[in-house]
Amino acid sequence: MKVGAAGVNFADVMRAWGTYDGGPQVPYVAGFEAAGEVVAVGDGVTSVGVGARVVGTGEGAFAEYVVMPAGSVALVPAGWADEQALGLVLNWATALAALRPLGRLSAGETVLIHAAAGAVGQAAVRLAKHYGATVIGTASAEKHDVVRRLGADHLIDYRTEDVTAEVLRITGNRGVDVVLESVGGTTFQQSVAVAKRVTGKVIVYGAAGGEASISNWELNFKHQVHVIGLHIGVLGQHAPELFAELMDELAKLIEAGVYPPGEPTVYDLADGAKALAELEARTTTGKLALRP
Ligand SMILES: NC(=O)c1ccc[n+]([C@@H]2O[C@H](COP(=O)([O-])OP(=O)(O)OC[C@H]3O[C@@H](n4cnc5c(N)ncnc54)[C@H](OP(=O)(O)O)[C@@H]3O)[C@@H](O)[C@H]2O)c1
Repeated sequence: MKVGAAGVNFADVMRAWGTYDGGPQVPYVAGFEAAGEVVAVGDGVTSVGVGARVVGTGEGAFAEYVVMPAGSVALVPAGWADEQALGLVLNWATALAALRPLGRLSAGETVLIHAAAGAVGQAAVRLAKHYGATVIGTASAEKHDVVRRLGADHLIDYRTEDVTAEVLRITGNRGVDVVLESVGGTTFQQSVAVAKRVTGKVIVYGAAGGEASISNWELNFKHQVHVIGLHIGVLGQHAPELFAELMDELAKLIEAGVYPPGEPTVYDLADGAKALAELEARTTTGKLALRP
């Protein structure tokens, strides 16, 4: 693929830290998400042809050209620029998988979305509102307006407020039906404490703030909740039918305007290190892209 725009993801930061599943292996070209034009296909590939514009994942995406497995790409929606399609197979698919097939969120339920102003977080807020849920988001205070405009009902500044106490106050001590947990560390303890006893689900799909654990004793006597792990790449490999269903649902949501063209913050490829540093420093909102 000739890269039109590459997506910058928190996993790129974790790779730089060496904490992402095994860490980067040399030789290493950073980046693993891009959208652009197919300029060549491998033998036997019939699902996409030369000239198609696709978005997908493949190692070494912070470059002018990248190779992607044909099975990992989707067509750039008609009328969208390459950069506007970034996030389709990663951020949006992850948010949808967390909320629906795994979180089983339904209308009238309440969801807590951590890092609600981030790329996955913003997608999750839009989706949860579309499915009729009450949304409580956490984010740094200066990002609250962005998330409120997406429809979030309650916002918590996790840096200055007691998240557990606030969520319990908002929910009348009942807790939330689903937690989208991408932060880890001490935030994970808040997440299991505010999930509804017996039925509450904590969907764990990130560890931006470090590792966290829960014991069998705690699950038995303290936090009777469902802790569910999610990695969208693994879901695509091990549950391809489910991944296809997610992509079908996202296509419908694009058609219906629930999922609008993305508006990433775009950096020149040469400024990739700056983009990663800003993502690491928690100063960004929404999707980030590099343009070669
Ligand atoms: N499992 C999967 O398949 C999958 C797929 C995609 C993404 N993810 C995960 O989803 C999460 C979001 O990814 P993204 O690319 O959309 O990034 P992002 O949410 O745009 O950026 C991370 C945001 O997390 C918040 N945050 C809260 N505590 C943090 C901490 N201790 N360290 C760093 N950031 C912290 C910050 O915003 P505030 O300060 O405003 O809260 C920061 O801006 C990441 O954990 C990523 O690894 C997982």
